[in-house]
Amino acid sequence: MEHIITIEGGAAFAVSTEEDSLLRGALRAGIGMPHECSVGGCGACRFDLVSGDMETLWAEAPGLSERDRKRGKRLACQSRPRGDCTIRIRCADEYTPAVAPRRGLARLEGRRQLTPDMSEFSLRTAWPAAFLPGQYALLYPPGTEGARAYSMSNLPNADGLWQFVIRRVSGGRGSNALFDRLGVGDEVAIDSPYGNACLRDTPAREIVRIAGGSGLAPMLSIARAALARPDAPPVRFFDGARTAADLCGESLLGDCPPPHRLSYTPVLSMPDASPGWRGAVGFVHEEVKRALPQPLDRYEFYFAGPPPMIDAVQTMLMHKHGVPFQQIHFDRFF
Ligand SMILES: Cc1cc2nc3c(=O)[nH]c(=O)nc-3n(C[C@H](O)[C@H](O)[C@H](O)COP(=O)(O)OP(=O)(O)OC[C@H]3O[C@@H](n4cnc5c(N)ncnc54)[C@H](O)[C@@H]3O)c2cc1C
Ligand code: FES
Repeated sequence: MEHIITIEGGAAFAVSTEEDSLLRGALRAGIGMPHECSVGGCGACRFDLVSGDMETLWAEAPGLSERDRKRGKRLACQSRPRGDCTIRIRCADEYTPAVAPRRGLARLEGRRQLTPDMSEFSLRTAWPAAFLPGQYALLYPPGTEGARAYSMSNLPNADGLWQFVIRRVSGGRGSNALFDRLGVGDEVAIDSPYGNACLRDTPAREIVRIAGGSGLAPMLSIARAALARPDAPPVRFFDGARTAADLCGESLLGDCPPPHRLSYTPVLSMPDASPGWRGAVGFVHEEVKRALPQPLDRYEFYFAGPPPMIDAVQTMLMHKHGVPFQQIHFDRFF
């Protein structure tokens, strides 16, 4: 069974009644529907329902402001068609998935503790792990409402191996369910890949990666992919963490070939908790500004992490150093 969705003044497409959201159905149909987080946090997928019946999945999703709600706006990632509908939204080619997302079950093959609250999860699907470095998957943690986004930390492969670096969030329902209720051998629903902050073909510019906390995962995948290109310029990797015990980027990058093309700078925001630390301290974006030879518009920037870090890096690059928006690529971890 399918519902036909018509975009006012644009294309019409079919969404299976099995789909859990309008956004996922549209992207699977090859429609360039705007999105960023896929989980109700960013508001990039706002649309107007012109006619038809649409279920709202998460009424309190922070991606809509009170003003948006009063104006009748909806989020495509938190809406599910109940019949044929007409919607108003501006789609763009840049959002058309380069790799069509695929849904199914993945088996947990192994879990490796990296820091006191971060572990590497290795999942296996029966189909190839097709994605662009920097993209994320949606996992459906057992007993939890809604999907959670987790970025792949490995490289695409034909063996169906999907690796993630996941932080256990204090009080968080989804992350705790993955740590406590998903055992080795268990299956979890996966829908992947999503996201636009992936590695671009810009070999001429030096590449800077900035990771905050669990923002490490997509930065690892991008760094691994960039270093595997024989003609790629050097990669500078800034890894922001609270204490030395929270750092694991350098060991995870250890398997990357030619180490001379990679410089790794750990930065601690709570150095007092790490006696004997002699490395960089403060917020990671401050160290980026201090350590990088200027001007900053000669680099291609990729960063991922909590929203305050993303905002700080974006403001520093765009407003204070005039880095063009096309040279910055990021994922906010809502
Ligand atoms: C693009 C992206 C990539 C990410 N990559 C990583 C990563 O590689 N590693 C990592 O550790 N974390 C990552 N995150 C963060 C991760 O998705 C979770 O937000 C985090 O694990 C906390 O989830 P929680 O369920 O424990 O916390 P909770 O506070 O229970 O939930 C947090 C998030 O879940 C969603 N949510 C909550 N309630 C509902 C509901 N009722 N219905 C639908 N959705 C709901 C919302 O997006 C909310 O912000 C990423 C986030 C995004 C957006
Ligand atoms: S993509 Fe829907 S709120 Fe972010």
